[in-house]
Amino acid sequence: MEPIVKYPVYDLENQLLVGEGTELSPDFMNGFCREKRKSYPSAQLLEYGDIEKDLRQQFTTPPYNVIFAREETKTKVLAVMEHIRLPLPVFQVMDYFRKNDFHTYRHMLIISALTTLILDHLDPRYSSLAGEFSHFGPLHDLGKYTVPLAVLMENKPLTIKERDILRHHAVAGYVLVSHYLKDHRGLASMIALDHHERRNGTGYSRGIEQENLTVEVTTVCDIYDALIAQRPYRPISFDNRTALEELTWMARQGDISWEPVQVLVAYNRQKGTEVEEISISMERRGKPPKQNVYGILADEERGDRM
Ligand SMILES: [Fe+2]
Ligand SMILES: [Fe+2]
Repeated sequence: MEPIVKYPVYDLENQLLVGEGTELSPDFMNGFCREKRKSYPSAQLLEYGDIEKDLRQQFTTPPYNVIFAREETKTKVLAVMEHIRLPLPVFQVMDYFRKNDFHTYRHMLIISALTTLILDHLDPRYSSLAGEFSHFGPLHDLGKYTVPLAVLMENKPLTIKERDILRHHAVAGYVLVSHYLKDHRGLASMIALDHHERRNGTGYSRGIEQENLTVEVTTVCDIYDALIAQRPYRPISFDNRTALEELTWMARQGDISWEPVQVLVAYNRQKGTEVEEISISMERRGKPPKQNVYGILADEERGDRM
C-alpha cells in the first residue's frame, strides 16, 4: 500500500514539496528524489550546539541512568554516534524543538542513543554500518515539525482531526527525510514512514504488517520513551516497571517483536552483556498513571495518540 499525503508538506523554507492527495508511489518518489534541488551542507550531530551535553544529561535521567549506567555502554554508543552527519535543516528542526517542545528534542536524541545500543546487540551488520544506522534516531520524528505545537503540546484529548494531523508526521517525515537525504529507499526514510506500524498490522500510516526488525527497534524505543516521559496529556509518566510490562504485553500480543524488548529489559537490569540469559516475566503488576488522556479522543473515538 502506498502512503498518501493528506496535508501538503513544505520544506523549512516554506517551499511546497508534495501537495495534498499525492500518492507516494516508488515512481513518484524516484522522480522526487532526482529533482534538481539545492544540496545542503551537513554537520556532525554530536558537535552541533549543545547536543552532546544534552544527550549526556539524558544519560543521567531515570530510567536512562540505569540503561546507560556503565561507562563502556556510553562510550560505545557515543563512539558510533560520532559518525552521524546530518544536513543542516535537520539541526534547524532540532533547534526549533529544543526551544519550543523540549520533549520532542530530547526524544530525538535519546531514541538515537537507545536504537544504537539495541541494534548493536541485534544486528551483526551493525558495527560496519554503524554511522548509517544511527541516522535513524534524530530523523524518525522529523515530520513532527509539520504538526502545530498546539497539537503536540495539547493536554486535553485530541479531536479526530488533530489526531489525524499528528499521525501525519510519519508520512510528512518520509517526505522530508527523502528530500533532505535525497533518498527514499534508505532505512532512515523507511523508519520515518513506518515507525508506528505494528507486526500485526494494527499501526499506521499504511497499516502494513511490520516485518523489518531494524525499523521495529525504533518502534520499541519510541513506545518505551513515550511511556516513561512526562507529557502535557499525562503529567505523571508510567513508572519504568509498568512501561516494561506494557512492552512485554505488546510483544505477547504480537504488536512488536520480542528481541528489542528483551535487550531493553536486560539493560534495565544492568545485565546488558547477558541479554540471552534474561527471562521476562509475563505478569502485569504495575498500574498505569491515572491522569492520562493518551489514546482518548475528544470526539469519543478511541485510538493511539502518537
Ligand atoms: Fe513518531
Ligand atoms: Fe518518536
